[in-house]
Amino acid sequence: MPGSSVKMLGKAQGLPADQVFLDLEDAVAPLAKAEARKNVVAALNEGDWGGKVRAVRVNDLTTEWTYRDVVEVVEGAGPNVDCVMLPKVQNAGQIQWLDITLTQIEKAVGLEVGRIGIEAQIENAVGLVEVDAIAAASPRLETIIFGPADFMASINMRSLSVGALIPDYPGDPYHYILMRILMAARTHDLQAIDGPFLQIRDVDGFRAVAKRSAALGFDGKWVLHPGQIEAANEVYAPSQEDYDHAELILDAYAHYTSEAGGRRGAVMLGDEMIDEASRKMALVIAAKGRAAGL
Ligand code: GLV
Ligand code: MG
Repeated sequence: MPGSSVKMLGKAQGLPADQVFLDLEDAVAPLAKAEARKNVVAALNEGDWGGKVRAVRVNDLTTEWTYRDVVEVVEGAGPNVDCVMLPKVQNAGQIQWLDITLTQIEKAVGLEVGRIGIEAQIENAVGLVEVDAIAAASPRLETIIFGPADFMASINMRSLSVGALIPDYPGDPYHYILMRILMAARTHDLQAIDGPFLQIRDVDGFRAVAKRSAALGFDGKWVLHPGQIEAANEVYAPSQEDYDHAELILDAYAHYTSEAGGRRGAVMLGDEMIDEASRKMALVIAAKGRAAGL
């Protein structure tokens, strides 16, 4: 939600998303940045966010705005900020700068040190090349996010439709980037989140793009409009059928292996052979399904 729109900051509070991010970066014009900081602090302190994770996206570290964004928002609304999102991250040092700055502010205003998390957006070639070091840069880091619009611009990709497949290219032009981010995230036990889809009225288009990153293992995707929320919640949760099957594998594996006195590693479930690796795959799907309330 753009920090410059008091109306949208109000509307966001009641929406069925898991997280909301209040933006001070690209959705806010340069002349509106100072006012947006005030709106964001007020919305965090006075709003009822209904248990949603509350993140604030500050400006990137090549601008003159970042330090004041962090200081004003965390000093002004620290107890109501869950995460600071840093866009266009290019190296681990930028995350370390944010970590140290947050620690100083937390100490200065009497907040628990380390309470505020960090989300990092990977939005250019430099950031992608550095993503392993970025993912390891701070214990505050919770999430690595793909920023497809800036990313496409930064590598001169020949398309204006973010996330959509490109007819001239026979494969998925995002596959390498998504996998690179996913590996770094999983190596450091972080969430991997896909970025925005800009054609906000094209929910089928949103769904198609979301399905690709969900299939790889991404945990979720940004929504830019309330109309995209239902599709996102649906796509990143397992299907009921897969969820039921995962629970069945877990039950069957526990049952048959204990029946064999713990002496059998692989057992049959109908026509399917299940072993310890199947149990681990089933745990992933079951955990996602339980979190989605299936
Ligand atoms: C998001 O910030 C993007 O650039 O896609
Ligand atoms: Mg961006």
